[in-house]
Amino acid sequence: MFFRSKSQPEASASAQGLAGGLVRVAMTVNGKAVSADVEPRTLLVHYLREHLRLTGTHVGCDTSQCGACVIHLNGKAVKSCTTLAVSCEGASVTTIEGLAQGGKLHPMQEAFREHHGLQCGFCTPGMIMAAVDIANRKGTQLDEATIRHELEGNLCRCTGYHNIVAAVKAGAAAMGGMRQAAE
Ligand code: FES
Ligand code: FES
Repeated sequence: MFFRSKSQPEASASAQGLAGGLVRVAMTVNGKAVSADVEPRTLLVHYLREHLRLTGTHVGCDTSQCGACVIHLNGKAVKSCTTLAVSCEGASVTTIEGLAQGGKLHPMQEAFREHHGLQCGFCTPGMIMAAVDIANRKGTQLDEATIRHELEGNLCRCTGYHNIVAAVKAGAAAMGGMRQAAE
């Protein structure tokens, strides 16, 4: 079954309380140390979008169903719409903006482009972050049934999924090829 985000009601012990009920929350996002003063109820997706201006992570629902908000938290995919920012104090977060390296698209991004795995693109950041996580967890040689099962937590209202599945399969294989080349 696909991941579920970890919504943690308690503020991290190390998040720093400030006047006015705000809390200073520091973490590493896409390799950079960041901090912002937020209300304790602030969701990670709003921390990313509104405080850090990383708007590639989308909000598509209020019910933790669509997966448009998927990011990686300490290397694992989570839904940032149901994760409190304060619970991520000291964590390492990767968003869609952090996947490309040195001006080169991540193999999963390249595969979505190559296989036309998007139409409007709204679901795409979450799809790609989820897809990278699937390859990390399930291996880089993925069959269609596994991909469809693992993508249950990501909804697309445009594509009919056929091209997304092809993109995930190709992107995962390319990730495997890159790892082999690096060994
Ligand atoms: Fe997070 Fe829809 S916005 S699951
Ligand atoms: Fe439009 Fe997926 S490409 S929602």
